Amino acid sequence: MLGRVNHVAIAVPDLTAATASYRDQLGAEVTAPQALSEHGVTVVFVNLPNTKVELLEPLGDASPIAAFLEKNPAGGMHHICYEVVDILAARDQLKASGARVLGSGEPKIGAHGKPVLFLHPKDFYGTLIELEQV
Ligand code: CO
Repeated sequence: MLGRVNHVAIAVPDLTAATASYRDQLGAEVTAPQALSEHGVTVVFVNLPNTKVELLEPLGDASPIAAFLEKNPAGGMHHICYEVVDILAARDQLKASGARVLGSGEPKIGAHGKPVLFLHPKDFYGTLIELEQV
């Protein structure tokens, strides 16, 4: 079911500072910030030769990463995103195996304009998993 790692996401309290760290200290190529109001986050992508890192900052009052940052005020690894070929087939197979799909269970359009779903971290060893159809 799983393809490549599309990105690893890190929740950060200050996106401007985090972007500067990756660009200026670590010497990475970073994108311009992108506000995703439907997901309650502003994102910057760090483009690496083999994958991407997604820096996430809360956007709005109901941001899904606000509680995470309360527990991890300095920031921390938030999720890992794997590519799948058919997200609905993957969802149905996972649900049939007992895994919990977050939200309504219907894919939302993610930061790359592709459908995404999230899987419950308690079902996958404490790691929030994002699936992205590519
Ligand atoms: Co992501």
